[in-house]
Amino acid sequence: MNEQIGVVGGGQMGSQIAALSAMAGYETHIYDKDTENVTSKLKFAEDNLKNLISKNKYTEEHLANFKDNLHVAKSIDSLSENKTFIIEAVVERLDVKLEIFSQLSEITDSEVVLATNSSFIAASEIAKDCMHVQRFINMHFFYPPLRMDLVEISYPESTATEVISRTQSVGKSMGRSIVTLKKETPGFIVNRMLAALVDEAYELYDEGIADFEDIDLAIKKGLNHPLGPFELSDYSGLDIHYYAKLKIFNETKNPNDYPKKFLEKKIQDGDLGVKTGKGFYNYKKD
Ligand SMILES: NC(=O)c1ccc[n+]([C@@H]2O[C@H](COP(=O)([O-])OP(=O)(O)OC[C@H]3O[C@@H](n4cnc5c(N)ncnc54)[C@H](O)[C@@H]3O)[C@@H](O)[C@H]2O)c1
Repeated sequence: MNEQIGVVGGGQMGSQIAALSAMAGYETHIYDKDTENVTSKLKFAEDNLKNLISKNKYTEEHLANFKDNLHVAKSIDSLSENKTFIIEAVVERLDVKLEIFSQLSEITDSEVVLATNSSFIAASEIAKDCMHVQRFINMHFFYPPLRMDLVEISYPESTATEVISRTQSVGKSMGRSIVTLKKETPGFIVNRMLAALVDEAYELYDEGIADFEDIDLAIKKGLNHPLGPFELSDYSGLDIHYYAKLKIFNETKNPNDYPKKFLEKKIQDGDLGVKTGKGFYNYKKD
């Protein structure tokens, strides 16, 4: 099926998901409430793409498709016009996602696939107050989407088989390996396993057992991981881990699930990681 793709949210993830979509030959529109941010993130994606072409990971044809097929939309209404497949990649907050999906479910036809790139929120939770629940699905890319060759797909029982196969084929045509889960679970496979590692790293740091730089070094050298858990948190965005923990705490009310105080302080200070220039590490060029 020749899908027409819309992407809502043009931050770190949405900009590169839209880039992958355009590069795969899909006519793609992207909308973000912060036009300046989406413009700068698309410029970043284009520079990255040129760099990856010089390393023979992509071709000049991909760049031409990126330029020809990718357009910035001015509103969510204009983004959804004539679309068959919409991928949401806004901030990891259930209230914001619910508002967007209730709007999308009203303004789009019932055959339009509504996919979320959320790291932890299941499609069933997002779909519950919306119309036509059979078209909701999790389509989870990894940061940075231009480089990371994986999409996890997960869905509630209400999702139509055709929606699952269309999502698999969109992911494959973007050149990504696809893993389809059999049941919904918060964090899917990768983030569920990664959360265990990051939680333990934060605990070690909180208990004063080691500096975060040494915990990162230990994991890189001892487990041969390319990045330590604190570096990875900075790259993903500290807000993602924070909101995921807060959501778990709100459900369990277990004080052990509340985000660590040092993390909460960073969120309050606006130090969200690489995207703001500072997280655990400092990325600002003096
Ligand atoms: N960063 C990662 O490593 C990663 C990996 C996989 C999935 N995700 C998921 O992708 C989503 C986005 O994460 P990100 O890292 O790109 O965050 P980000 O902070 O870089 O981007 C979020 C974007 O959403 C926009 N936004 C917020 N409210 C909006 C609204 N009402 N309408 C339109 N745009 C709105 C913001 O302006 C911002 O540009 C989250 O759900 C996250 O869990 C992130």
